[in-house]
Amino acid sequence: MPLFIKNKKSVMLDERLTHIAFIMDGNGRWATSRGLPREQGHRAGAKAFQNVAQYCETLGLKAMTVYAFSTENWKRPAREVEAIMDLLEEYIDSCEKELKDHSVQFHFIGDRTPLRPALRSKMDRLEEITQDNRMILNIAVNYGARAELCRAFETLKSEGQTINEQAISEALYTSHSGDPDMIVRTGGDLRISNFLLWQAAYAELYFTDKLWPDFGPSDLDAAIREFYSRQRRYGGV
Ligand code: FPP
Repeated sequence: MPLFIKNKKSVMLDERLTHIAFIMDGNGRWATSRGLPREQGHRAGAKAFQNVAQYCETLGLKAMTVYAFSTENWKRPAREVEAIMDLLEEYIDSCEKELKDHSVQFHFIGDRTPLRPALRSKMDRLEEITQDNRMILNIAVNYGARAELCRAFETLKSEGQTINEQAISEALYTSHSGDPDMIVRTGGDLRISNFLLWQAAYAELYFTDKLWPDFGPSDLDAAIREFYSRQRRYGGV
């Protein structure tokens, strides 16, 4: 099973691995174990995310998708929800300032309706000004895969379209990026938590006990090596 190694340190990707999705779990536990408020865990998580996104760009990945806030995360204390929304806004502001430094095409997937108007307009603007950039980065905010599927079926029904696999894929938030080849979940839990349910049909699942703020490029290298060691048969032999 060929695995292309660049400088022996980092892996090099080929067409079998073009899209990786991440369930960034463990921020809260990372903070609690250090006697810090959970919000600090999310701040450390946002830093880890930026580091991993930059590394994915360096590797030449075509698309990356991250689960930043689920439809279920509104159940958390208001202070924690606000902290995550603040981090998103700060991140978008910093991306606008540093646009020259990277080549990311941003997409925010999920239902934006209940988000703060300021955040929504920043999302719209960042998507617009990065639309011609190379690496697709989907950031899932107020995202739930069941809600996404209901929305897709409603769209197809209202347009009188035939329901088939291609039509459904094209009606999802991820129509521009396709399905992930691998989904990485940090934090030790072995579940998919309403993330990319349709798109995950043939994804390789990779679970690690590492908490998200501790996850970095060398951990991603380990996941990529594991990906290339697996055989993907898509139901064949
Ligand atoms: C899950 O960990 C993580 C979240 C619900 C939020 C993820 C958000 C970020 C990493 C920051 C987002 C910011 C940007 C810029 C994308 P948890 O809180 O459920 O952790 P726990 O399982 O240890 O409690």
